[in-house]
Amino acid sequence: MSTQGERVALITGAAGGIGRALVATFEAQGWRVVSTDRVALERAGHVVGSLANLSSPETAGGAALIAALRAETRGELSAIVHNAAFQVVKPTAELSADDWQTTLNVNLMAPFWLTQAFLPELKARHGSVLAISSIHERLTKPGFVAYATSKSALSGMVRAMAVDLGGQVRVNAICPAAIGTPMLKAGFDGQPQAFAQLEAHHPIGRIGTPEEVAELAAFVCSDRSPFMTGACLDLSGGISGRLHDPV
Ligand SMILES: NC(=O)c1ccc[n+]([C@@H]2O[C@H](COP(=O)([O-])OP(=O)(O)OC[C@H]3O[C@@H](n4cnc5c(N)ncnc54)[C@H](O)[C@@H]3O)[C@@H](O)[C@H]2O)c1
Repeated sequence: MSTQGERVALITGAAGGIGRALVATFEAQGWRVVSTDRVALERAGHVVGSLANLSSPETAGGAALIAALRAETRGELSAIVHNAAFQVVKPTAELSADDWQTTLNVNLMAPFWLTQAFLPELKARHGSVLAISSIHERLTKPGFVAYATSKSALSGMVRAMAVDLGGQVRVNAICPAAIGTPMLKAGFDGQPQAFAQLEAHHPIGRIGTPEEVAELAAFVCSDRSPFMTGACLDLSGGISGRLHDPV
């Protein structure tokens, strides 16, 4: 990464549970953060827009979003964190074309087109691309076909892009298991036993925190990890190595 000038990071999905922690952690570590989400945030450098339009950079919405982000980053980008995601939970028989299109646009195509749009800046500064993938890239559960497929493809793209971009831009992913965002916790309201069971399933005895994802993200994007590229980092409290036999 370049040591000249300001370090600027673009973080998508910044209004979400992990996104807020990413913004706070990157800022605390000296980055200027340009954030984006379909949800407004009261912070300077936040751009409201939908990544669901980024099936290609030529769609009206996609081009406008890229232009607005370019105006905020001012050609100084050193890192992109692709954190936004769309998750539809439906059985195979009920998935619609819209479900697939939105999932693939937000979780896969937007990370690709945003990376391509900002490649000149990233190359010039030997920057980093980081995708927040998921444990669902490899291990999933019923109802997650579209989401899990998109995360497998996202991790695959990270490995392929790292090879393609060589030493010019580092490209990595973090693959978290359950992270205790406000939304995840709200899903367990009134079910303390189910939540305790979820935590106990993780060999480490609990689920992760948004701050733990953000700390690793800031490390991966920093000049403290110059040899790391093409990595899909497991952040799972050990659950990704656990066999769930009933006995
Ligand atoms: N929370 C977990 O347990 C967990 C585990 C593994 C991976 N992840 C991944 O971490 C990332 C962040 O997840 P989170 O838990 O903070 O979820 P979240 O739902 O709190 O945040 C996701 C953000 O993405 C934004 N977003 C969704 N669709 C969008 C669109 N069309 N355009 C623009 N923005 C859009 C949402 O508005 C939201 O702010 C995701 O990539 C998710 O797949 C989360």
